[in-house]
Amino acid sequence: MVNCGFNTLVPALVFQLRIFSLYPIGELSTGGIWSNGNGVGTLTSVAGSDLYLNANTIHMDDFNVVNPDKPYTLNAQGLLATDDGHYIGIYGKGLLPNTDHVRSILANETDVEPTKWGELDAYTTWSFQASGKYAALTESVYVANIKIYPSDDSDTMSYIDYRLSKVEAGPRCNSEWEESVRGEL
Ligand SMILES: *[C@@H]1O[C@H](CO)[C@@H](O)[C@H](O)[C@H]1NC(C)=O
Repeated sequence: MVNCGFNTLVPALVFQLRIFSLYPIGELSTGGIWSNGNGVGTLTSVAGSDLYLNANTIHMDDFNVVNPDKPYTLNAQGLLATDDGHYIGIYGKGLLPNTDHVRSILANETDVEPTKWGELDAYTTWSFQASGKYAALTESVYVANIKIYPSDDSDTMSYIDYRLSKVEAGPRCNSEWEESVRGEL
């Protein structure tokens, strides 16, 4: 099995949101429902990360499609302010599996538990607009898994945590064979 040359993911950032409103926009001709969610939260770097970041959202909203029998599609963007006064744009897209558990959380069923990390085969891709000491954010792509928590008050639709990993080049190939093998990995 050849591993070299395949990208690897390095844990980098945690994005924690409280979704405080969800606006149903209406039905798509292909089925599914357009919807817009608004959230507030924080984006912080994980310990040991090469870029320190501690930011709060100024605004964050997500134009998503709620599908009856397919993954939900997420399409989020927002603006963050760092603890030292810089502004950062954030963009995320991806898929959220439409499992019974996710539907129960979004429907705010009684006594429903949060999802567990790893339970959802979810991924989203993230990119940034940033400058100055945070410019490195714009030079990478990030991939995140999702954890969802149920509402606990009337002003909250749900809570969503994303764990963002930075995509890196992956290990170098060391042998001639690893370098040249094609189509037989
Ligand atoms: C969701 O349910 C919880 C627990 O019953 C309740 O406290 C909360 O207000 C509900 N959320 C909404 C948005 O109605």
